[in-house]
Amino acid sequence: MNTRKYTLITGASCGLGWEFATECARRGRNLLLTALPGENVKTLGEQLAQKFNIRVVGFEADLTKTTEIKELARIINESYEVDMLINNAGLGGAKSFLKADPEYIGNIILLNTYALVMLTRLLLPNLNRQEKAYILNIASLAAFSPMPYKTVYPASKAFVYSFSRGLNAELKGTGISVSVAHPGGMKTNAEVSLRIEKHSKFIQSATLSTQRVAQICISRLLKRRKIIIPGFFNKLYWLLLKVMPLSISLAYMRGLFKKELRKRTKKVPAPELIPD
Ligand SMILES: NC(=O)c1ccc[n+]([C@@H]2O[C@H](COP(=O)([O-])OP(=O)(O)OC[C@H]3O[C@@H](n4cnc5c(N)ncnc54)[C@H](OP(=O)(O)O)[C@@H]3O)[C@@H](O)[C@H]2O)c1
Repeated sequence: MNTRKYTLITGASCGLGWEFATECARRGRNLLLTALPGENVKTLGEQLAQKFNIRVVGFEADLTKTTEIKELARIINESYEVDMLINNAGLGGAKSFLKADPEYIGNIILLNTYALVMLTRLLLPNLNRQEKAYILNIASLAAFSPMPYKTVYPASKAFVYSFSRGLNAELKGTGISVSVAHPGGMKTNAEVSLRIEKHSKFIQSATLSTQRVAQICISRLLKRRKIIIPGFFNKLYWLLLKVMPLSISLAYMRGLFKKELRKRTKKVPAPELIPD
């Protein structure tokens, strides 16, 4: 173990967050991992600590709740020196805005934007104490274009992009840099995996693994890159979005996601009743 400093990663019990934890552990960084209660983050952390001979502490917190964000930050600031913050936890999905549960919409905004901003603000004095410090905010390729039937998710990720670029410029001259990452689709949870598997073989082969995305992000974060777009095809998509008129991309995505939703909500025939 080479340092008493820690990397804090949110949403670390699965998906991309777990790969960030593994990649940082491989690099010998001590870890503070957060996940929702009941996600086994402490046990998972112990496995990393043993395998890579690092210190790992797991915290359970629902980051859509202000009190839990504040309590988490208080405990961390009192006991640990943090030189890397990875704001990874995030929620999204395709739903009709009219039919989506208002609480679901609220939670996307709370987790993807409010929690990220609050945690960054509350941890900033700690990061500022370190000689060098890094913040990595996880946005998405979705940040670069509004999307019908996803509406709130891309808007929240556009917020993450704007916030990260502004804060990075504000912190110039300090030892802290802020990078924002824009991954494309990755097979993390069941919903995203199913969506990717419905695309053409070409798109599927261009999809990066969470492990590769985590490796690229951490190595570019340490080089203090402001924007990180992992993968050649994701960069191509980003360039395409820049030159394509918005009305065309909106019409295309409206058709795409509408079809996807229709397929998902197709009624399953009711099981036949067994007579008494
Ligand atoms: N998957 C993709 O295709 C894709 C593409 C672009 C960007 N991203 C972004 O990458 C990040 C990670 O996504 P993922 O697909 O790996 O995640 P995921 O598998 O969908 O899991 C959701 C993540 O958010 C955390 N989370 C959910 N509700 C929470 C709450 N109330 N409080 C605290 N944490 C909560 C979960 O933490 P637990 O560890 O507790 O489960 C988990 O890490 C997100 O910001 C996502 O928007 C994903």
